[in-house]
Amino acid sequence: MIVTTAQLFKHAYGKYAVGAYNINNAEQAMGLFKGAIESKAPFIIQISKGARSYTDKRMLEAIIRAAGEIFPEAIFAVHLDHGDEQTCYECIDSGFFSSVMIDASHESFDKNIEISKRVVDRAHAKGISVEAELGMLGGVEEDIKVEDGHATLTNPAEAAEFIKRTGCDSLACAIGTSHGAFKFKGRQSLHFDVLEKIKALVPGYPLVMHGSSSVPQDEVARINAAGGTIAGSMGVDVNEYLPAAKLGVTKINIDTDGRLVWTRVHREFFRDKPAEFDFRPPGKIFIVEYAKFIASRNVLLGSAGQLDDLRKSLGK
Ligand code: G3H
Ligand code: 13P
Ligand code: ZN
Repeated sequence: MIVTTAQLFKHAYGKYAVGAYNINNAEQAMGLFKGAIESKAPFIIQISKGARSYTDKRMLEAIIRAAGEIFPEAIFAVHLDHGDEQTCYECIDSGFFSSVMIDASHESFDKNIEISKRVVDRAHAKGISVEAELGMLGGVEEDIKVEDGHATLTNPAEAAEFIKRTGCDSLACAIGTSHGAFKFKGRQSLHFDVLEKIKALVPGYPLVMHGSSSVPQDEVARINAAGGTIAGSMGVDVNEYLPAAKLGVTKINIDTDGRLVWTRVHREFFRDKPAEFDFRPPGKIFIVEYAKFIASRNVLLGSAGQLDDLRKSLGK
């Protein structure tokens, strides 16, 4: 059952965070739904602009529709990740997305508000939730690279004003994370102080954490032992997911970690079976491994085991 992110956040707020996982193909969709059902967790399936054009935007929508039929007990939102204004309108008009993200965080404060508010007005007219972003994460998104030192943490007073002026349903805040596999140099913690200040100004308001992959070091070691060269990578401490959730983070975005699972499975498979050329055997292993990964993340996010209670609270 497809629901809005606002419905998911109402149930999760202050107790747990909903995992938001990016997908690009059928294998990822299958692993995600399997893992979510095995862990009895609601989830958010995210599609980036790059994912929409990887094959064809209709392909991913059809895959998700089919997955919803294969796993009828699943409760999830279909969300556009890092949308520009035009892509938000396309997804709002598609009738398939229950949530969109307008990412105008690279614009000035006022321009960001102006663009986000336009998207909110169009989305709300169709009952669709909107996530906006304030502050700048470091790292690489599809078209935008934010260099080290140019990332800016979200200003709590501005966040409160932004929420009021745009009417957005959730706000992605920069609290020290970045996209990709190279988040920190040395040990670092999330900026819980920023979350505390935002929560004090807008109690009960759902916040979103992007760049939340943990970049498991055992995964990286296996990839490198099978020919990879991704040394020096580092991610978010998974023990900080739940404390962030208690401070109002209701959506935690994880993409890179899934790519690492894919890379590890395929590098090891073809290293160990150099004469193999059928893609289905490693594809099957990936689905199982990704499902295990999703279930393990849902436990850490506190969303595991919430499905039945959520269903009741939705009256379904
Ligand atoms: O934040 C970006 C997400 O990880 C999506 O990545 O734009 O390469 O699909 P992508
Ligand atoms: P990661 O690169 O840490 O997985 O972040 C993904 C993300 O924020 C998607 O919007
Ligand atoms: Zn992101």
